[in-house]
Amino acid sequence: MKKWMHMSLVFSMTGIFAAASIAPAGDPAFYDLAKTPPMGWNSWNKFACNVSETLIKETADALVSTGMKDAGYEYLVIDDCWQVSRDADGTVVADPKRFPSGMKALADYVHSQGLKFGIYSDAGTKTCQGRPGSKGFEIKDAQQYAAWGVDYLKYDWCNTGGQNTREAYTKMSKALQAAGRPIVFSICEWGGTQPWIWAPGIGHLWRTTTDIQDCWDCSQPWGGMGMLHILDLQTDLHPYAGPGHWNDPDMLEVGNGKMTTAEYRSHFSFWCLLAAPLMAGNDLRSMTPEIKEILTNKEVIAVDQDPLGMQGRKVWDGGATEVWMKPLSRTDRAVILFNRGSVTAPVTVSWEQIGLAPGVEAQVRDLWAKKDLGMFKDRFTARVNPHDVVMIRVQP
Ligand code: GLA
Repeated sequence: MKKWMHMSLVFSMTGIFAAASIAPAGDPAFYDLAKTPPMGWNSWNKFACNVSETLIKETADALVSTGMKDAGYEYLVIDDCWQVSRDADGTVVADPKRFPSGMKALADYVHSQGLKFGIYSDAGTKTCQGRPGSKGFEIKDAQQYAAWGVDYLKYDWCNTGGQNTREAYTKMSKALQAAGRPIVFSICEWGGTQPWIWAPGIGHLWRTTTDIQDCWDCSQPWGGMGMLHILDLQTDLHPYAGPGHWNDPDMLEVGNGKMTTAEYRSHFSFWCLLAAPLMAGNDLRSMTPEIKEILTNKEVIAVDQDPLGMQGRKVWDGGATEVWMKPLSRTDRAVILFNRGSVTAPVTVSWEQIGLAPGVEAQVRDLWAKKDLGMFKDRFTARVNPHDVVMIRVQP
């Protein structure tokens, strides 16, 4: 395998972008599988264990008919609970009641819709829902997934006893790479052992926190956390992401019903600014126009998918209001003016905060209003509603 050093591009205009990421040795073909953050849909956030071949087929159809596929959503991933046992020779068995046609036929259906097919397993003896895990069966499972036509594996961390994260994920990564089919590898150890340090070159994305909840700022006794809490845990992780190796702040809750439209707009805007994988997690068969408008905003998605592959970060913190910025290709910047408070407030981004020289005039476009706002010198101010964002693209 040809070894290489991958170094993300460094903006040098002001030194503000100097913290570029350096991935360890790896195979360029491996990184190329996820040059931009993977996009798709995953069953867990809305359906938990209630998965079936009917749901997956209807979701495949909905990805196409709603315009989600056109907007870039590609991987259709079945999370936990598709598997029930292992047969006498150790082959993992899909639930015959819920998936009567089998996984190969389902993968074929998903592929026939121009989509890619993903599946879920766990590095321990059992998955988080007590289904068969892959420990001791890594090679067999990887070969089985390749034979079914799997394109994406999410690999969880329940029931792992004293296993070492790096070793366990390396074992499955090697098994997948030897299985003869390109498979995106999604590491899900919840950030406990700082995967952003060791996982580039082993997986294409890695969870940075425990499970997201469909709420602005709640928390669960077992560790589940609201959107805002997860966002705050991403602040220092921007140096570790780049093409082929992404921080994953967990899947989207947009459209699952417990946040307001403004809160979902903020959630989606931030995931795009963070160059996060965009795995929708709502019921696409009954999506409202407002939710579809959020999930398919191509200009906001273009921020997530920008080829430079830099993760955004906070550049100003005023307590209730904040400014975040993501460097884009061709010296553009995406900027979020954020109001986490409870009253409408003006928020200002100065060009200095985003690495533009004093006196520079820049074009500002509002990515949610889909409107050019004109040329601005030195700063831009907008009034931002509570729990909402104004998201702009600044073109010097
Ligand atoms: C863990 C993961 C979730 C989901 C469930 C399934 O909690 O972090 O994203 O996959 O397991 O059981």
